[in-house]
Amino acid sequence: MATNSKNAPSAPKLNRPLTITVANEKGGVGKTSINRYLPFVLAERGYKVLVIDADPQANLSKTMGITKKAYAPDEIFIVEKSMMAAVRDGDLAPALVNVVPNLDEVPSDIDFASFSTFLSKKYGLADRTDDDYYEVESKKVRVLKDLIEPIKPNYDFIFIDTPPQPRSDSTRNATMASDYVIIAFQTQSDSLDGAISFINGTLTELHETFGADTDVLGILPNQVSNSGAIDQVVIEDAIRMFGEQNMFKHIIPFAKRIQSAPRGGVTRQGYWNTKLFKDVFDPLADDLIERLEMVGEISDGTN
Ligand SMILES: Nc1ncnc2c1ncn2[C@@H]1O[C@H](COP(=O)(O)OP(=O)(O)OP(=O)(O)O)[C@@H](O)[C@H]1O
Ligand SMILES: [Mg+2]
Repeated sequence: MATNSKNAPSAPKLNRPLTITVANEKGGVGKTSINRYLPFVLAERGYKVLVIDADPQANLSKTMGITKKAYAPDEIFIVEKSMMAAVRDGDLAPALVNVVPNLDEVPSDIDFASFSTFLSKKYGLADRTDDDYYEVESKKVRVLKDLIEPIKPNYDFIFIDTPPQPRSDSTRNATMASDYVIIAFQTQSDSLDGAISFINGTLTELHETFGADTDVLGILPNQVSNSGAIDQVVIEDAIRMFGEQNMFKHIIPFAKRIQSAPRGGVTRQGYWNTKLFKDVFDPLADDLIERLEMVGEISDGTN
């Protein structure tokens, strides 16, 4: 397989394609930032990667558009179709856009804010206390999973970016469609609560009531703001709650460069970008692969 980077390490082969959602019910914890960089590094290593933007804020899509434009400035880049139209038409394939070698995306737009309305019009509206809740909801939560199914064999990794709203249809669908979730939280805020309520709420309900086969790959602390030292108390709380073996090894440090991706796209060009990859996202990708080995998703052999 082709790689973007001459120095990409050999990539151990996955036993099956994997869909992963970076999750937390609170906003601004770094979900989109992780989805900007981690899939990019995996694509460089030769994995076939897809990012699906299931957030109407479309922050990931904008960065991917800038990344594509910077990579192929002479190409005429037109977004023919985005998430909402693809979901309405029951096929994600026409919405696929290639960003850089090995990395595709399904872009989102503000119209994806209609996802819940679309589901209700198609499958009905049922409250948790209604008799038909299970029947209605079990159809609604599987929509994205069913749409991913036919394109999944074309990829090694599919990442889904979700909006911050608690228990949104988008996050529920992304979780249901995922083999694993990475639970991200901010070390300086109360977003550990958002992580816990995601696990105890969305994930548990999907698992116990709707048969989701979604596991937690790891808990990933992110230092989003530069307001001093990492809050060790929060980290220790997380370790106590989830167990050290469930935590990613590397905390994502505060890095000003992460904030410029929305303007400059994702690239290794330049001193600060090179440093960001070397210090933060290459080790995070190593950590991810190691965790996948631990849970039996990787056998011997290279990609
Ligand atoms: N490690 C970091 N260092 C510095 N800035 C960061 C870091 N992680 C995220 N940020 C910044 O914090 C802000 C929120 O991050 P991001 O958009 O990735 O979060 P999110 O969870 O996707 O938010 P939302 O829930 O609104 O979608 C962004 O401005 C981003 O650039
Ligand atoms: Mg986001």
